[in-house]
Amino acid sequence: MLTDGHIDRSIGALRRISMLLAGLFCTATLAGLSTTGDKPRGKMLAAARHSSYNDPALVQYGKELVTHTATYLGPRGKVARLSNGMNCQNCHLDAGTKFWGNNYRAVAATYPKFRERSGSVENVVKRVNDCIERSLNGKALDSNSREMKAFVAYIISVGQDVPKGDLPKGTGIWPLPYLDRAASPALGKRLYKQKCVTCHGATGQGVVAPDGTEYTYPPLWGSKSYNQGAGLFRISRLAGYIKTNMPLGASWETPLLSNDEAWDIAAYIESMPRPTKDLRHDWPNLAGKPIDHPFGPYTDPFPEEQHKYGPFAPIKKWQDQHKASR
Ligand code: HEC
Ligand code: HEC
Repeated sequence: MLTDGHIDRSIGALRRISMLLAGLFCTATLAGLSTTGDKPRGKMLAAARHSSYNDPALVQYGKELVTHTATYLGPRGKVARLSNGMNCQNCHLDAGTKFWGNNYRAVAATYPKFRERSGSVENVVKRVNDCIERSLNGKALDSNSREMKAFVAYIISVGQDVPKGDLPKGTGIWPLPYLDRAASPALGKRLYKQKCVTCHGATGQGVVAPDGTEYTYPPLWGSKSYNQGAGLFRISRLAGYIKTNMPLGASWETPLLSNDEAWDIAAYIESMPRPTKDLRHDWPNLAGKPIDHPFGPYTDPFPEEQHKYGPFAPIKKWQDQHKASR
């Protein structure tokens, strides 16, 4: 069994190897080209392929777009009207910098990367448009627009000190351990009324700020929420996000919900209606579909209902046993 100690040691070893490679790479680069400045070595590697993060005005505009997306791109946006009124920051907390708050720290070091959902290598532009089309239920931004350049510049800047290939701690979403039962929308409904309703509302529609442009409390379901193709529509993503971030004020160090509560509330939210999306072209390799993707077909015999709410352990076991033939 892998203990935390083992994992820390392996990460340490990986980091040492990547630092070594970073050193070699930088020396080679310095020898071959004359202008590289005096940035730390890891920094050069992670962000070297993206030059735009060196433009402070663009980075600043990108941060503004992440925190106030709706003001620029929402239904009453002053630049374009192409998204649902949510802000990136509603899900990527503290402008995408919060520890276990779905932060952007890994992006500079890991993109472009292969993603199973599209079955292709994605750059940051594609990844940002994924969230605009799914999490913001909107229309893709032109890759040459100043807005897209600013998003990319800012997101890269958040992870610019991360050595290439390293996975920084606390990035993305907390990996919440599976329950040994199915998560329960009925239990979740009761908990939602106790712990979430004051801000997100009984109908899950959130509260719009007085000027009508952005949300004070964003919607959790319904026509203004993320669509069924969004990452948060997978229960493990939503439950992990909730566990370390909600109710507002929670953090990974001071969570306010038990694991069971996080799963059950997530089940309730995912059981409610939300916009659909044509997902026929997603997951071209079925074996690469995540265990909690709620739409078939699958390579295993388990029904959609179980892929949506669990229990996941039996599916995982089946998949592990059939790995060789998949
Ligand atoms: C409804 C919630 C939500 C909103 C709003 C949202 N995202 Fe995301 N975003 C996610 C989730 C969930 C993931 C995947 C996290 C995971 O699985 O670790 C993600 C992933 C990403 C990633 C990849 C991170 C990585 O490390 O691979 C980028 C980049 C990103 N989002 C950018 C944006 C931008 C820019 C916006 C606003 C235009 C936005 N997102 C709005 C939920 C959201
Ligand atoms: C005190 C108010 C408050 C309470 C209570 C609260 N939230 Fe939130 N929630 C927020 C705010 C504000 C945001 C957006 C954060 C930001 O933009 O920085 C948010 C964001 C979210 C998001 C991501 C954005 C979206 O709309 O999909 C989810 C999911 C969420 N909350 C779920 C919950 C759940 C589940 C509970 C109950 C366990 C809960 N919240 C309780 C204020 C609250």
